[in-house]
Parts: sequence; structure tokens; C-alpha cells
Amino acid sequence: MTGFFTEENSAQAVNARMRDGIDPRLKTIMSALVKHLHAFVKEVELTEDEWNSAIEFLTTTGQICSNERQEYILLSDVLGVSMLVDAINNRRPTGATENTVFGPFHVKGAPIRQMGDSISLDGKGETCLFTGRVLDLNGNPVKGAKIDVWSDNADGYYDVQQPDSQPRWNNRGIFVTGSDGAYSFIGTKPVSYPIPDDGPVGKMLAALGRHPYRPAHTHFLVTAQGHQKLVTHTFVGDDPYLASDTVFGVKETLVAPFEPNPDGTTQWVSRFDFILMSES
Ligand code: BEZ
Ligand code: FE
Repeated sequence: MTGFFTEENSAQAVNARMRDGIDPRLKTIMSALVKHLHAFVKEVELTEDEWNSAIEFLTTTGQICSNERQEYILLSDVLGVSMLVDAINNRRPTGATENTVFGPFHVKGAPIRQMGDSISLDGKGETCLFTGRVLDLNGNPVKGAKIDVWSDNADGYYDVQQPDSQPRWNNRGIFVTGSDGAYSFIGTKPVSYPIPDDGPVGKMLAALGRHPYRPAHTHFLVTAQGHQKLVTHTFVGDDPYLASDTVFGVKETLVAPFEPNPDGTTQWVSRFDFILMSES
């Protein structure tokens, strides 16, 4: 008799159990997963204690998940998988604004604000005028683009992390461009902050000698009819964590200028144009 499971043929033995006629994409994904997982176990010669630790880690990761917290996405983020999936699915030509990680702190339904409004409802931190235009790849302004912005406050926390001390919708808002594609709003110059590190992912980072910090950034979700969705950030250039973002979200093209505002209405001004790809 042949086909029994052995150390040598382990992956083939598992993959051979898949029935003919199943979803071909599922077959491709599961075959590769089993192949690489078995190769990994063989490469490191996983011990039974290590296997138990892995099961315990995955169990606690699941147990800490809730409607407010997604520890598996955080795990994907710190392992660089989120950014790899993002890179594969959002290849863009030079000139188009690059995507980066979405993160867990976006909230749907932020208030629509008027151009020039302030999103800093707690009034904390250094003030910054964020301004620029939404353009297409040919340099034409994009009218009716929705710029959904969210950022931490001067203490490094999003409003949803401190619902009892920050005003609702603090450092959030949606701005809609007119025919010139221009946007402007007043916000806080963001500061670097640690990702939620009081769970299994934080413990894993500590065990690996990794810090949990993200460099200072402002999140933008830009959508416009006939254009591809843009999920991105702008980063503050002199941040000490720029080269070691714990979720690997930094791209050189997303480092924005932050300069003293010459008219003095805010401490800083940050100019950045969002260049959208048309929908194919
Ligand atoms: C964020 O930038 O909000 C974020 C991204 C990934 C993990 C945690 C936080
Ligand atoms: Fe963030």
C-alpha cells in the first residue's frame, strides 16, 4: 500500500486529500500553504514544546480579538504581511501616490467639514495647516474627491482609544474637493506612538527585541468617482522611527514637508498632493 503519511512526503500526503473539482483558487492557495508550512516545520525541526507555544500564541491572539480589537491583523502588520499584500495589490506607476497600511483606527462616518476647518477638537499639540490638491496622473484636478483624514492627538492616541477623555471625532473629518481639486484643513502635527502592545503581538515584539512604535503620520483615505481608492499616510520627515516603523508602512514618497507657516496662523504647514490613478 502507498500514500501513507511519512516525514518525507508529508505535504504531498496532505495535499492529495483535496477532492477534484474544488475551487481552483482555493486549491492553489491551500496547496502552497501546506507546502510552505511543512517546509518551515522541517527547516526548524519544530519541537513539541514549540508547537504548543505556537498553539497557545494563536489561541491568546484569538481570545483578545473583539469588535474593537483585531489582533490577527496586528500580527499580519508586524510580520510585514499586510504591507506585502498591499504592495502586490496596489502596484502603481511612478507619479501616482503610493498606498500604505490602513490600520485599525479608521472610523466610518466622520463629519464632513468645510475646507479650512480644524479637525483638532482638543486643541492639543502643535498646529499644522495641511494643504494641497487631488490630481489625476495627467495633472488635472479631481473634483468631488472625498478626503477622509484621521490622526492621533498630541499624546499619541486616537479618539477611539480614549473615548472618555477625547472629544468624539477628534482629529477626524472628511473634506470634499471643488473643481480646483484643492484641500486645506488645520490639524495637529502628528507624533509617533506605539501600536497596541499589551497583547500577544506586543509580547512577541518584545521577545524579538523589536520596539512597537510607528513614526508620526496622518492617515488619508481618498476616493473619487472614476478613480482608484487611495489608502495612504503622510509622514513627518525627522521622526526617529521613520526607518524602523513596526508595521513597515513608510515609503520615501510619502514623507511630506512640515515647514514653519510663514503667515503664522498655524505653527506648521504641510503641502502634499494626492495623485490618483483612474479606474481601469
Ligand atoms: C495605524 O497607523 O493606525 C496602525 C497601523 C497598523 C497597526 C496599528 C496601528
Ligand atoms: Fe496611525
